[in-house]
Amino acid sequence: MHPFVFFSLALYSLSIVCSTETNEGLRSFSIDLIHNDSPLSPFYNPSLTRSQRIINIALTTFSQLTFLDENNLPETLLFPDKFQYLIRYYIGTPPVERLARVNTGSDLIWVQCSPCKVYCFPQNTPLFEPDKSSTFTSLSCNSQPCTLFPPGQHKCGNLDQCLYSYQYGDKSFTVGTLGTETLHFGSITGANIVSFPNKIFGCGVYNNFTFVTSEKVTGVVGLGAGPLSLVSQLGDHIGHKFSYCLLPFDSTSTSKLKFGSDSIITTNDTLSTPLIIKPSLPSFYFLNLESITIGQKIVQTGQIDGNIIIASGTPMTFLEPTLYYNFEALLQEALGIESVQDVPSPFKYCFAFRDHIVFPHTVFQFTGASVALKPTNLFLEIPDIHMLCLAVVPSPQRGISIFGSFAQYDFQVGYDLEGKTVSFIPADCTKI
Ligand SMILES: *[C@@H]1O[C@H](CO)[C@@H](O)[C@H](O)[C@H]1NC(C)=O
Ligand SMILES: *[C@@H]1O[C@H](CO)[C@@H](O)[C@H](O)[C@H]1NC(C)=O
Repeated sequence: MHPFVFFSLALYSLSIVCSTETNEGLRSFSIDLIHNDSPLSPFYNPSLTRSQRIINIALTTFSQLTFLDENNLPETLLFPDKFQYLIRYYIGTPPVERLARVNTGSDLIWVQCSPCKVYCFPQNTPLFEPDKSSTFTSLSCNSQPCTLFPPGQHKCGNLDQCLYSYQYGDKSFTVGTLGTETLHFGSITGANIVSFPNKIFGCGVYNNFTFVTSEKVTGVVGLGAGPLSLVSQLGDHIGHKFSYCLLPFDSTSTSKLKFGSDSIITTNDTLSTPLIIKPSLPSFYFLNLESITIGQKIVQTGQIDGNIIIASGTPMTFLEPTLYYNFEALLQEALGIESVQDVPSPFKYCFAFRDHIVFPHTVFQFTGASVALKPTNLFLEIPDIHMLCLAVVPSPQRGISIFGSFAQYDFQVGYDLEGKTVSFIPADCTKI
């Protein structure tokens, strides 16, 4: 898709309605986070074995990164954050339920809108109809939110409305009109619904995902650091704080995505490290990884100032090649187990499963936070071939390391965008 295709799109009329502010003040709320491959997800394929599922999850990220590397994207950051998780929310007045992909590696909130132009991916619920919502407002092309899109990715429509184009690193995209709406979170039938009026979203009329999607999915909710993300837009209402607690993909429980002051519980177990937000599009969350300790040995990264992206949607952890090979060598030495010859792609280090493996104490030393990883954060069991494989691989792109979601299982990971910290609390995510 060329970003300018949208110039030719026909336009729908605006309905401008005043909305009443509700739920003013500080809010804390939580919503279920559903893993793409969990039995609770519309993507669940019961015919796959656990091994196939693990390899599929690991492979998707890898091919995406390789693909970007082959294209040799220059200074721009690649898009490592796959859409691994789903959330339910409601949009408009009356509220319409939407199932959205969610991640921390993108900013925009968008839904497929009616009338669709050119192409919309199939969805088994009606497209969102802005004309039927009393709280929909179209934003003008001179509005500040419109100018947050880079030049060439926003334009004035015939009625001076903001036409946007937003593309992901994997070439998935959405094109449409930028507007504002009331977003609701929680159970629409229950008392716990929280509503936020006038939130900026993309009313996408030409959209596609480049990967297999379910007809239940209707768009994306970005949790990145940029101004258009849900987290940034809820801002003061949630004290600029959110957290997640990720469960293994095959868990039959849902974990929680929490917003607000209650989302980060500070205990004496809380490990806190500086959060670094660099001016990039999309705005990733960076941490400083100073070193990795493996048993008695330590490998220094030799660099600070935001050398690793923390990403909820990237399953594997990717380390700069030099760092990776040092890490792997020390791990092999500490375990006393060499890798098998035929390592299934995309892994680099696998060995036959055996009893009584003594795993070395492994710590990712972020500035101010020694995050001890359990064997289950580092190794994946591939039952079909009776192997354990390291869920850490060398990054295909120099200078980019990513702290992925396997490594974050069983931690409540809290982001404080105002205090500029990320905290890790060891937790049983089924109980959060
Ligand atoms: C949408 O994406 C799918 C999957 O990559 C692709 O096969 C299809 O050609 C795309 N359609 C359009 C209109 O971009
Ligand atoms: C944390 O605090 C609790 C009670 O306040 C105490 O029992 C526990 O030992 C403390 N843990 C650490 C690691 O200091």
